[in-house]
This record gives sequence, C-alpha cells and structure tokens, in this order.
Amino acid sequence: MDVLSVEGGRRLAGRVHIEGAKNAGLPACVASLLVDEGVVIHRVPQLRDVSTILFTLGSLGKRVVRNGGSVVISEDGPLAAEASAYSVRKMRASFLVLGPLVGRLGRAVVPLPGGCSIGARPVDLHLLGLRALGAHVEETASAVTVTAERLRGARVEFSFPSVGATEQLLMTGTLASGVTEIVNAAVEPEVLDLVELLRAMGAEIEVEGRTIRVAEARLHGAEHTLIPDRIEAGTLLLAGVATRGAVTVVDVRPDHLEPFLAVLRAMGVDVAIEGGDVTASAAGGTRGVDIRTAPHPGFPTDLHPQTAAALACAAGTSQIVETVFEGRYTYVDGMRAMGAQISTDGRTATITGVNGLRGAAVEAPDIRAGAALVLGALAAHGTSAVSGLDKIERGYDKLPDKLQSLGANVERREA
Ligand code: UD1
Repeated sequence: MDVLSVEGGRRLAGRVHIEGAKNAGLPACVASLLVDEGVVIHRVPQLRDVSTILFTLGSLGKRVVRNGGSVVISEDGPLAAEASAYSVRKMRASFLVLGPLVGRLGRAVVPLPGGCSIGARPVDLHLLGLRALGAHVEETASAVTVTAERLRGARVEFSFPSVGATEQLLMTGTLASGVTEIVNAAVEPEVLDLVELLRAMGAEIEVEGRTIRVAEARLHGAEHTLIPDRIEAGTLLLAGVATRGAVTVVDVRPDHLEPFLAVLRAMGVDVAIEGGDVTASAAGGTRGVDIRTAPHPGFPTDLHPQTAAALACAAGTSQIVETVFEGRYTYVDGMRAMGAQISTDGRTATITGVNGLRGAAVEAPDIRAGAALVLGALAAHGTSAVSGLDKIERGYDKLPDKLQSLGANVERREA
C-alpha cells in the first residue's frame, strides 16, 4: 500500500491540467452497452475506477481498446447477462450496467454494489425506475435479477435527485418504447454529459429544469469527449487556498465550478476566470463560511471534505451541513490528528480555524476524505505520511506529480 510523504508549509502556485471527469467517464463507458456499434470516448482519466468499469464491460463481452486518453468500446460477439461480483462490489457505478443489459438482453443479474463507505447508499430508486418501465425485479441479499420482455416508457418521480438512479433510468429509457419522463432528476454536469453522449448516439432527450424526457429512438455508435473533472479542479484549487498560494486550473468549465467558486469568494479567496482557466489566490488569508451541500446546482458533496481541510486553517468558525451523504465525516479523525478543531453533530460539522496544523501519520478512508487529508498535510508544518494512497487514486490521476509541479514537497513511497 503506497504512502504519500508530505513536507508541509509550502505555498502552492502555478498552472495545472485537469483530467476528464471520472463521474462522467464511468456512465459514458456503460452507455456503450446500449448499442452493438462502436463508442469512442476521449479525455478518459487513467484511474483505477475507470479500469474497473472497463474490466466489467470486457467481462460482459465488450471489446475494449485503450489508447492514452481515448477508449474504443465495440462488440464482436454476444453479451453476457451476468456481471461479476468482483467489479460491482469494488465500485458502485458498475451497478449502472443493469438497465442497459435488461434493455438489450431482456435479463440481467447484477450483484449489489460496493464503493466508498460513505453512508447507506441504497439502490431503491434505481429499482423503482426499472419497475416503472415494466421490468420484473427480484432481490436477494447479494444480487438483483431483472427481467423484461419489453420495456415501456413511463413517468418516474424520484423522492431525491439521485445521480446514479437518473443515469440508470436515462440509459434504460433510450431502449424503452414511448416516452420515459424522469421527474426530480439529478442535473449534475456529469448527468448532462451523459445526455450529450446519448444524443450523439441518436437518443431524443429533453431537459427542462429537473424533468428529463427520453423518447424512443434508434441508437447507433458515437464519439464523445468528457467534460473536465470539476472535483479534481476544486481539490487542486483548494490545495492553493489551504497553503495560501495561487493555483490555476487549466481548461476547465468555470460554469460547472460556480457553486464551489461562490464559497471560495465568501472565504475571501480572490477568484479569477479567464476563458477556461480559473485561478484562486489566497495570499491574503481566508475566513470561515457556512456551507450546505446539496444536489447540483448546490455545493457538491464531493468537495465537502477538501473544503473542510482548507477551512481548518481559515480565520473564525465555519459550519458544513451535509445533506447528501450522511457518512461524509470520515476525514474528521485524520484532520484532528493534525491539530484541526472539528466537531460533528449529526449532519453538521463545526470547524474552528487554527493558526497552524502540524504534520501527522494518517490514513485515507476514502477518495475525497483522503484528498482532504493530503490538503491538511500540505498546509501543516512538518512531515505527514498519508497512507492508503490507492484509495485516493481511485479518483485522482497523477496527484503526487501534479502537486509537485505546483511546488509541493511530496513523495510517494512504498509502505
Ligand atoms: C454519485 C457520484 C458521487 C457523488 C454523488 C452525489 C458517481 C460514480 N458517483 O454517486 O461521487 O458523491 O453522485 O453527487 O457518479 N440514494 C438512495 N437510493 C438510491 C440511490 C441513492 O437513497 O437508489 C441516496 C444515497 O444513499 C445518497 C443520495 O441518494 O444519500 C445521493 O446518492 P446518488 O446521487 O445516487 O449518488 P451516486 O450516484 O451513488
């Protein structure tokens, strides 16, 4: 298990390239199951989670060829209806293969998902959607079997705008007859990127506020470039903010980052946007803010832990209310080990900024909490060892190299 050794206290500054969005790439790869023609995806990050989904597709009978940042997914034989437990348990996004497989084959068996340990994360909304389209769903403790002779479009209203359930139903809806209407749908940039890919594949999709309509259409192969990763961009901007430096993320979508940038401005960070480049400068210091995470266009839950790390060294007190994942607070113990003053009460974290964090040996509990601990270590005086780098690298491609290029003193070593 690799460890990131961090000598903290250096101000990070410079320009850094951002990868394609992991959370757009995973459903985009799954969408290839909807057709027997080729789907080509560009700006695909070199991440473990991407390898896991490509492995899943390969084991279902797809032919996958990776060439740098591009992936070509084609089909030259029959598809299998059963996904392996190995890949689905490893990563929740693999569950998305369910609907496309049912639509193509009339039957799919998918183990119940794993993924980050950030709360209960049920799949009831995914199954509600599939049932509404006429599928028969049979659940056991370890797997879900779904069968459908024919999928028929229907109106489905979600009690919560789940990203995964919206993506599941969007894809399945393209193979159903008539119109599928998703009410209270998630409209995260990654969901809308999937809409773009599906449209390029011939789907007829209308998005109106939180309502998405998918009409029956004949799909075909397509080529698509992923949107830049707003969570990676936010994390690297925060690396600059936490160290009172100035980082520019290059070739991003500033509009996708806006709910996050609004919080940076409220912290007293100087935010400059020039075309697709965003610079956050915090040389003058930062102050506490109150944040509430929420589905897009709210503040993204995937930037909660990293923002908390930056707030741990801001002047004054901050509160973060987590409304999406109840188990987001896995970063708290590690940050406290570095001297941060953070307490939690239910879904609320209260953070009182301290003058200086100190280096410590900590372990990454999951992707985003792990990134938060790296930010804490960069801001701290002294040396830290962040173990569990493999967890962080599920979501961050070349993170040590990128931090080094911004002037951080970090080194990856084997434990
Ligand atoms: C996706 C992202 C993840 C991000 C999250 C919220 C991917 C691969 N992952 O996860 O990084 O943190 O969106 O922006 O894109 N829920 C239910 N029933 C369901 C589905 C979800 O109750 O059937 C609940 C979950 O327990 C959670 C909330 O809804 O509390 C949000 O989950 P969801 O939006 O589905 O997140 P994911 O798609 O898993």
